[in-house]
Amino acid sequence: MSEEGIVKLIRPDLLTFGGYAAGKSLEAVAAAAKIPVDSVIKLDANENPYGCSPRVKEALSTYSSFNIYPDAGQTELRKLLQGYTSVGAEHIVASSGSDQLIDLVSRLFVGPGDEVINCVPTFDIFRFAVTLCNGRMVEVPRDGNYNVDVSAVKKAITKKTKLILLANPNNPTGTPIPQSDILKLVDTGVPVVVDEAYVEFSGETVTPLVSQYKNLMALRTFSKWAGLASFRIGYGIFPPRIAEYLLSIKLPYSVSAASLIAVRESLKDIDYLMDKVRAIVAERDRLFGELEKLEWLKPFPSRANFILCHVLNGKASQIQQGLEEKGILVRYIDHPLLRNSIRIGVGKPEHTDALIKALKEIGKGAA
Ligand SMILES: Cc1ncc(COP(=O)(O)O)c(C=O)c1O
Repeated sequence: MSEEGIVKLIRPDLLTFGGYAAGKSLEAVAAAAKIPVDSVIKLDANENPYGCSPRVKEALSTYSSFNIYPDAGQTELRKLLQGYTSVGAEHIVASSGSDQLIDLVSRLFVGPGDEVINCVPTFDIFRFAVTLCNGRMVEVPRDGNYNVDVSAVKKAITKKTKLILLANPNNPTGTPIPQSDILKLVDTGVPVVVDEAYVEFSGETVTPLVSQYKNLMALRTFSKWAGLASFRIGYGIFPPRIAEYLLSIKLPYSVSAASLIAVRESLKDIDYLMDKVRAIVAERDRLFGELEKLEWLKPFPSRANFILCHVLNGKASQIQQGLEEKGILVRYIDHPLLRNSIRIGVGKPEHTDALIKALKEIGKGAA
């Protein structure tokens, strides 16, 4: 069969599917900036600059059963997460990153032609997952400060609406959603998914409410607060029947034994990790103050571990490129509702200092 022949067999709706734009490899950036890989300052993916608990490395180095499949029923993992969230294990499903739960929830609810309400601009994996299910994204724009427009969301609900997706706080804007707004949407009876990837930084969660509602779900991750992005550990809190269905459609071994160890050790070292979370929150506030002093940038208040900035004077793409040439990675954002912007992850204090110095140099060049 020719290459054309096999391509013709692909689902036609996926032939033009754009995919998800992930960042560049560190090696490529380091080579272009002519610096060692470990000198790159990586502020483009909202990762934890402090890394994971040292206990994780220690425990992995003595583990000897890598040849055995992990427990498909996630018994210990769900119990550990019960201890962390104070929500019963029957509500909990873990996954390979919360990305995968967005995918699984979409597969569970969304079929061809079904509608999903998304409050844009927001995390692009929502569009990615729903589109792969042949669902139709109904985009409801946020207001000028990136708050969810609750009445517009309610108006967008039709008989075909299967899900309302809310990121709290939102990525890339950092905006929180008041719990009263979330509950107004839950009261519509449509299943509501609240993605709480940054909850440890924001402190606001709906998880204690999940057991009171049949249509409320919350997604979380160990990628950000616990510094375990490369392990891919996400989990969700669901009504128990939904958790059962999700367990039945997930691939059996999607959370590795190494990830279970990482969760176990992180939760034993919670004080250490929460200290780092507090350091990141304090640094976010300092970074915000420094960014505000640059008159050509407009930073937006954030409850997460990153800050969105509109570029008021100059091109965001050039700012991003200029920083990259100096070995500093930030995310360039160009969405129909969010033009000419960059999103900056919160790093260590020395990362903030290097970033601000570089921005001042780039700003001078542009003036
Ligand atoms: C809102 C939101 N949800 C989910 C994720 C994905 O997290 P994970 O690493 O657990 O897949 C991210 C990552 O940036 C995010 O910003």
